[in-house]
Amino acid sequence: MFKEKNLSPRQLALFTALVLSVPIGIGFFAFGGHSWREAIVSCVVICAGSYALILYIIQRFIYRKLKLIYKFIYQTKASKKQETYYKYILPQKSIDEVREDVEAWGKQKRREIELLKRNETFRKEFLQNLSHEFKTPVFAIQGYIETLLQGAMDEHEMAERFLKKAQRNVERLSHLIQDLDEISRLERGELKLHRSNFVIQDLVREVYESLSLLAEPMRITLQIKKGCEAPLNVWADQEKIRQVLINLVDNAVKYGRQNGNVTASLYNTDGQNILVEISDDGMGIPESALGRIFERFYRTPAGRGRDITGSGLGLAICKHIIEAHGHNIHVRSTEDVGTTIGFTLASREAERTRKP
Ligand SMILES: Nc1ncnc2c1ncn2[C@@H]1O[C@H](COP(=O)(O)OP(=O)(O)O)[C@@H](O)[C@H]1O
Ligand SMILES: [Mg+2]
Repeated sequence: MFKEKNLSPRQLALFTALVLSVPIGIGFFAFGGHSWREAIVSCVVICAGSYALILYIIQRFIYRKLKLIYKFIYQTKASKKQETYYKYILPQKSIDEVREDVEAWGKQKRREIELLKRNETFRKEFLQNLSHEFKTPVFAIQGYIETLLQGAMDEHEMAERFLKKAQRNVERLSHLIQDLDEISRLERGELKLHRSNFVIQDLVREVYESLSLLAEPMRITLQIKKGCEAPLNVWADQEKIRQVLINLVDNAVKYGRQNGNVTASLYNTDGQNILVEISDDGMGIPESALGRIFERFYRTPAGRGRDITGSGLGLAICKHIIEAHGHNIHVRSTEDVGTTIGFTLASREAERTRKP
């Protein structure tokens, strides 16, 4: 009728009382010379008495302690609801159910501790990276200023060279601070998307326009792939997507090759999603680094050598923005062949069908 393992305190008391009283009643009848009436009465009296006693002992010595354990687990002063729980529900629970509750609590605590530990490692790495990123330009600036003060200032050409180098490092610091500011805002969850409908090709052209000065010295052509010109409407935060495209095109130029090409391809994949890809024919990314480029501060050694003003935060920012739109960003690359970084966005049709 009931599983022995899952007995509630009342069932346990009744079970034990019966185990005690029935043999005693039989003993009274068989060996004590009592009538069967007397045997039954004594059996009932013993059963009732031991039931009450056992239940009292269980309640007093075990369930009161369990109540304390529950109070400790929930770490709160008992609310009305909990008082009801302790009074009516807890006494119904078997010891096994209590064990399950405690185990579940233990598991939850373990998860919380793991999360705290992970955050701690994350924080340490972040600080380490941050100090490293700041140290390099600040020491460089310090070096140039010292050299200038030690006499280089008197030679006009040399002074100008050092000042230009110092200026590049100040630029790097300023980029770093801007990116840090941006990523910390994103990570605090303050990213509010202001979605609208716009034609993605128009935005790509605007971004190309704004970065044309960067591409010119390397004679890199910024283009939209043939066959991808038909306007595609997307439903997204235009300014945030502009920021993503600027980052991707900026990377494609910085890590691109002299006289190379940067190509944007735009496809409507299934009526619901628009795929945007920015490809270059530059230095590429080693396979071992492909999984890491979206991490904060990660830069490949070759990339670091090529561009001193980067912060390694650009792609981390892009990833945040695309994921906030509920989409993904991905990379394909081969060293010395080129890189393609792509992401999807909702098409205007997807937005139309979503609304009832
Ligand atoms: N188009 C690309 N070609 C080659 N390497 C790239 C490209 N885009 C990104 N990377 C690599 O990924 C790293 C991270 O990019 P990002 O977060 O934008 O940082 P940053 O541009 O400041 O270096 C770069 O330092 C570079 O090593
Ligand atoms: Mg970048």
